[in-house]
Amino acid sequence: MHTHELHWSILGAGAIGTLWASYAFKQGRSAALLLRDNARLEDYRRARGILATLGGSAELLPLPAQSCEEDGAPIDHLLLTTKAPDSLKALSRIDHRLSRGATVVLLQNGLGVREELLQRRPDLHCYQAVTTEGAYRPAPFQVVHAGRGQTLLGGGPNADVLANSLSVGPLDVSATEDIDAALWRKLAVNCAINPLTALYRCRNGELLDNPLALQQLHQVIDEILELGEYMGQPARFDGLREQVLAVVRGTALNRSSMLQDIENGRPSEIDYITGYLCRYASDVGLTLDTNQQLLEQVRALS
Ligand code: PAF
Repeated sequence: MHTHELHWSILGAGAIGTLWASYAFKQGRSAALLLRDNARLEDYRRARGILATLGGSAELLPLPAQSCEEDGAPIDHLLLTTKAPDSLKALSRIDHRLSRGATVVLLQNGLGVREELLQRRPDLHCYQAVTTEGAYRPAPFQVVHAGRGQTLLGGGPNADVLANSLSVGPLDVSATEDIDAALWRKLAVNCAINPLTALYRCRNGELLDNPLALQQLHQVIDEILELGEYMGQPARFDGLREQVLAVVRGTALNRSSMLQDIENGRPSEIDYITGYLCRYASDVGLTLDTNQQLLEQVRALS
């Protein structure tokens, strides 16, 4: 079978999900958006598609879409782009359609969903991906591709085939043998930036102007480096401090995803970012005081 013949169902119509769906559509690949319910599908039909700004001007793309409430063909390949805290609930809506042994690719911030998913459906083949593509959703059913990035995918023997199939248009997906390294690095950067921007209600760059926040940022990094040593894998976080500071400067004007969630009254991803880190550390016998404190403070905000 040609890899481009895989049919993808895309669950999670946020910026990243609609970005992939839009490029797949433009390339004539087989992909469909799965929307939460019939009411959402009605809204989508009224919008007549996704308004996508992919580089040039905005264009209306009539991507195929279905509601999770409708019956449909069994799903063999699922790209899951929901936020981590929404994932299990979203998956439960299509549980009956997910084939035994279906392939699921998680493309989202945070860690911990894979374990939750496999606990519920041990038959699934669960891959993970990390992306630096920049995209945002100015309004429902709209997407802007704001910056080119790279995507790594791994977690099983078919990573090559899946990466190939998900490389659409300029979206460049590569298979990696060590997806854990990429996931942990992304997690570490998010642990350093996201909770502090949510607590101080500031843009990423403003962390550098706030002495207390900056001190906490360094403590978060110290604790992650200590965990790396403790795990016997100090190289895992090589250059983390420089990387975090480079991301803070490079995204100085951004409001982090966690700050946006808190400001918009949405559940934050804290339990899948700092929460995952603290649970992992505690399982190996280490307490990360600053991270634990940030976890509790952000939980109290949500
Ligand atoms: O979650 C986010 O907002 C982003 O991953 C990052 C890198 C912190 C930039 O805002």
